[in-house]
Amino acid sequence: MAGRRTNLALLVALFLALVTGGLAFGVGTGWSRWATVAHGAVGFVILLLSPWKSAIARRGLARRRPDKVASLSLSVGVVAALVFGILHSSGIAQAIGPLTAMQLHVGFALLSLPVAVWHVMKRPVRLHRTDLGRRQTLRAGAVAAGGLAVVGAGELAFQAGGLRGADRRATGSYEQGSFAPDQMPVTQWLNDPVLALDPGEWRLTVGARVLNLDELLSYDDRLEATIDCTGGWYARQEWQGVWLSRLLAPTAGARSIEVMSLTGYGRLFPLRDLDHLLIATGVGGRPLSEGHGFPARLVAPSRRGFWWVKWLDRISLTERPWWLASPFPLT
Ligand code: HEM
Ligand code: HEM
Repeated sequence: MAGRRTNLALLVALFLALVTGGLAFGVGTGWSRWATVAHGAVGFVILLLSPWKSAIARRGLARRRPDKVASLSLSVGVVAALVFGILHSSGIAQAIGPLTAMQLHVGFALLSLPVAVWHVMKRPVRLHRTDLGRRQTLRAGAVAAGGLAVVGAGELAFQAGGLRGADRRATGSYEQGSFAPDQMPVTQWLNDPVLALDPGEWRLTVGARVLNLDELLSYDDRLEATIDCTGGWYARQEWQGVWLSRLLAPTAGARSIEVMSLTGYGRLFPLRDLDHLLIATGVGGRPLSEGHGFPARLVAPSRRGFWWVKWLDRISLTERPWWLASPFPLT
């Protein structure tokens, strides 16, 4: 394959890896399977292109370029993302030190992103009309099929080898601590701290109401739901608390529900979620632990873990459209 086309194919694959990886992270329902399979396929396309890219890189390295080090660190970042992606999916290693293989996978991919943009901007590749012709489309299809075949072969190998990867959920996550909340990992988005709150002092504002813990505990709504963390684990639990719709009624003009934590962390939900959200004060018949959001956290079924806001402070309706908020929290 010509060098220029290899670089173009890599560019498309890197872009699609980000899009499908983002989708795999964003979708909490069974649809996630499409994103994870497509994501694995584009990830392996990058791997399959590596013999051709190595030839390009060897040629490039022989020239004197001021930003060679950046290109080499890009190689390290992408290889590390690939390695940690495979370690996670196969289940060979789910955690390395304090971090999960999934966190390292995404961390390396995101760190490589600005370097990749720099790399491509400094080495612009021209598009030719024939790049979109029949021949190239067929080639692209063959490369994509190769990526898919590796994903399929991987799944068979996980089963044959008895690896834990065979048991992962549609999102790629592993079961940990279902119906045993003490064994559920404690994870926060980026740098969010675990809070130790005084239940006597703590208050929750819901719309115009201010409730204390005893008032919340007077309800006994129950819901079995699965929390699926983007760190790569999931757990099914019975959550106790109160349906948000019992405390908050839709008002004219409201489009979204804003849910804020005492840490300043927050998410904006579409108003249609009102009937599905539970304010949980307990899990598995016991109060929440501090790490899991004591005194109260949100339970947002079918949404990934970063929507399940902990250490609740305020829930309110707003006219701001939910889709204007960033799909992933930035802090
Ligand atoms: C997986 C992602 C990629 C990695 C790890 C990577 C790595 C490298 C390395 C190590 C070099 C040789 C050192 C240098 O010239 O600075 C290189 C050269 C080059 N890369 Fe990449 N690259 C990647 C993606 C891309 C993409 C997406 C494009 C363009 C669309 C691209 C275009 C080029 C060009 C034009 C050269 C110079 C070749 C020469 O001067 O002979 N690369 N790349
Ligand atoms: C350089 C960019 C990336 C590459 C090359 C890459 C590659 C891979 C590979 C090869 C796998 C293993 C697939 C399998 O064994 O079936 C994987 C898994 C995964 N990646 Fe990425 N990835 C990248 C970026 C991302 C990003 C940015 C995210 C999320 C925002 C992400 C999320 C995931 C998830 C959730 C899985 C698990 C899927 C599963 O277990 O089926 N990846 N990735």
